[in-house]
Amino acid sequence: MAAEGDYVLGTHEDELARLGLQHRVWRPVVLDCWQRAGITVGKRVLDVGAGPGYAAIDLAEIVGPIGEVVALERSQNFIRALETTCRARSLANVKIQEVDLMKGDLPTADYDFAWCRWVVSFVNDPSLLIKKLGRVMQKGSVAIFHEYGHYETWRFLPRLSMHERFREHVIATWRESGGEPDAAVQLPRLLGENGFMIRSARPHIFCLRPSDYMWQWPVTFIETYLERLIEMGRIDHKFAEEVRTAFASAEKNPNTRMLTPLVLEIIAEKL
Ligand SMILES: C[S@@+](CC[C@H](N)C(=O)[O-])C[C@H]1O[C@@H](n2cnc3c(N)ncnc32)[C@H](O)[C@@H]1O
Repeated sequence: MAAEGDYVLGTHEDELARLGLQHRVWRPVVLDCWQRAGITVGKRVLDVGAGPGYAAIDLAEIVGPIGEVVALERSQNFIRALETTCRARSLANVKIQEVDLMKGDLPTADYDFAWCRWVVSFVNDPSLLIKKLGRVMQKGSVAIFHEYGHYETWRFLPRLSMHERFREHVIATWRESGGEPDAAVQLPRLLGENGFMIRSARPHIFCLRPSDYMWQWPVTFIETYLERLIEMGRIDHKFAEEVRTAFASAEKNPNTRMLTPLVLEIIAEKL
């Protein structure tokens, strides 16, 4: 099994909490997407790279006791968190499987849907992942992706040069760990090569002000990833403080807006 440290964002408690907040701010978008895709009571959903399972729990409640969610994840910390939540919420319809998506086989079952969010960016061979998905998804089933399509859309207005330097470190460290921030752009080709037909593709991008709830998403990412970059020896405390100071002054400016990193939603049907 791969070590916890292999994953560039980490699997520590702060990251677990950050993923929770990230799920909550995105929940309205995600619920709308799942509804458009057709997820409903009784369906069987494969959650690919489920993390601590924030989406898996919502999915389990939507599909209900006659449906099922199969959550695949590599991190034992995240798996333990998901197990605890399932027990606390008495959810018996979530099956959790510890698997490295790059090394193990995906479990076969008659899935109606696959859900994959912010995972393709972090695997070192997206084509292998989509090939494996193509093998387990049955004819007529639907694969749904929310992945970054153009990470550099993430910017402040007016521009914040310390943020742009920070963003470049993010992109560089993801690439150095074998991932690709703009992974979504490869998906149409990979899906086509593996028997999927795209039903819909749409961008999700927001222009936020500090009072918006979604503003907290990049805020918590900046804080946790500054610490991560220090741990990696990539930046020093002075750099981190300069980012924090620039960010704090931008937050006080009533004209500040933040464009979010572009997320591409793809809904594709297996032929
Ligand atoms: C940014 S998190 C997203 C988690 C979840 N999909 C969500 O939307 O909240 C990426 C997840 O992919 C998992 N992951 C990355 N590479 C993996 C691999 N090779 N095998 C299994 N899981 C992997 C990480 O452990 C982490 O939980």
